[in-house]
Parts: sequence; structure tokens; C-alpha cells
Amino acid sequence: MKIAVLYGGISGEREVSLSTGKGIIKALEYNGHDVSGIDFHPEQIHEILDLDVDIVFIGLHGKHGEDGRIQGLLDMLGVPYVGSGVLASSLAMDKSKAKQIFHQNGLQTAQSISLPVQSGKNPQTMVEEVKQALTLPLVIKPNQEGSTLGLTIVKTEDQLLPAIKEAIKCDSVILAEEYVVGREVTVAVMGTQGNEKALPVIEIIPKNDYYDYESKYTPGGSEHVCPAEVSKDITTILQRDAVLAHQLLGCNTYSRVDFIISNDGKPIILEVNTLPGMTPTSLFPDAANVMGMSYEQMVEEFVCISLQ
Ligand code: DAL
Ligand code: MG
Repeated sequence: MKIAVLYGGISGEREVSLSTGKGIIKALEYNGHDVSGIDFHPEQIHEILDLDVDIVFIGLHGKHGEDGRIQGLLDMLGVPYVGSGVLASSLAMDKSKAKQIFHQNGLQTAQSISLPVQSGKNPQTMVEEVKQALTLPLVIKPNQEGSTLGLTIVKTEDQLLPAIKEAIKCDSVILAEEYVVGREVTVAVMGTQGNEKALPVIEIIPKNDYYDYESKYTPGGSEHVCPAEVSKDITTILQRDAVLAHQLLGCNTYSRVDFIISNDGKPIILEVNTLPGMTPTSLFPDAANVMGMSYEQMVEEFVCISLQ
């Protein structure tokens, strides 16, 4: 097949996507496809049309890649692509909107408020709004971002203002969330729409205090325990909730759903990643591997599912 792989791009997660793209290109070439890798900038849409590919594999992360924009552009051009469509991508990228959908459908989420950053608004006003709504410790993050960019765990009041200023750099809406203390786990989901299966649960044990950018992308920065050493009941709940979250947003082909198991044993859903990392330190390929699926087989499966 003739396949274009879009990677890199213009989001804050560009570096991560360069690594994801490299892995996907290598795997598709290994599988015998005619692959064109494109470090994607919007004006290169002509290049994709000129190539006349069978399918586009989107290896982008974050804004403009994972948020439905490129998916919409490809839809309008009639070019098939791997993964979720416009609506699911946009909803998953908007953490606050996705949380509302999860909550309305019985999934447990951390208590939170989202605050739009209106022009001219003093960040100190936002500090007061957060303090009125929630109690410490908190997580302050950009509403639309990935790889923990712009995220701060706030333990003391004086950390709130710098945390908000940091999140504002990444997005025009900030999300303040109750900090759930517990075990961080993730579940990869794949399959055709309506027939998705959850892969084995992975527990993430970061070397740093939490699973930050460094722990995510430095080799040895975190340990991935797969299958996670959690009870059968918790495994069943996590896998069921992961598939449900994927389906509630209308995702397609694959996604990775992140949770915290609180210290009192409740799985709290954090978010759905519609284009999860495929780097050498990423989680999805590890879960596939435990199922006996190589990286190359996993990537091939994504293409096959997307073409069904
Ligand atoms: N946002 C990164 C790429 C992930 O979820 O894996
Ligand atoms: Mg994410």
C-alpha cells in the first residue's frame, strides 16, 4: 500500500511526534509498504494529494494533529486516514468536555473546574476562583495539551499563581483538578467500532515524583508493569471503563485511556488519548507486546482496522 505518515508538526508535542513518526515509518516499511514520511505543516496538504496515497497514518500529537483539525481537512479532501475522526478527536483533546461526558455516563472523574483565560484577566483572579471551587492539593493543567506539558501539581497556595501562569502558556483554557493520590494506570484499546478490546492494564511507576515529561520520554524514566498487579475485579473495571470511554467519545481504531486508582480503590478516569505515543518509551506498544503483538503487527493492525 502507499501510505503517508504525518509526524512532527507544530504542536508542543513536536519532539514526541518526531519519535512516534520514526517508529511508525520504520514499521510500515518493514511490513513492505511504500511509505512517505512528512514532517507535517499545513501547507504540505498538497504533497499528500500529489502522492495519491491509499491511506494517511497520522503520527502527530497534540494541537492541530490530535484535535480533529487535520482529520477534518483529510475528510474534506476524501483521503482516508488511520484512527479517530473529527468529533472524537476534538472531544478527547478537550479534557473538560470529555470529563463531562464521562461523568454523565457514570464514570468516575476527579472534581474539577475549567477557566477560560479571558484577555486582560488577572491570573490572580483565577487563583481566587480555583480556591473557591476546590481544595489543595490540585493539578493545574492546560485544558488542551498532552505529555504533561504545562502541568503542575500544586500542594501549597503560593504555588497556584505560577502554576496558572505556566498552564496559560499552552492553552486559552485551564483545568484545575483535585489531585487524586493513588496508582497511575493506563489501558490501550483497539478494534473496529463497536468491537473494541482492551489490552492488558499497565501500571506506570515513574522515577520522578509523578509521570512528568522526563519520566515519559527518558529511557528508564519509568517502569511499566504489564499486566498491572491489581485485582481481577479492578482489571475488569478498568478494561470495561476504557472501552466505554473510547466508545462514548466515538473513537475509532485505537486509543489509550489513562486512570488513577485512588488509594481507596476507585478507578478515576483522567483522559482518552486518540493518538497515543508510539515512541520507544511509550505505553501502547508495551501492552501490545504483552499480547504477543510486535510493534510492526500493531501498526499493521491499525491500518487494516481503519480500512474496514
Ligand atoms: N500525548 C502523548 C503522546 C501520549 O498520550 O502518549
Ligand atoms: Mg494526553
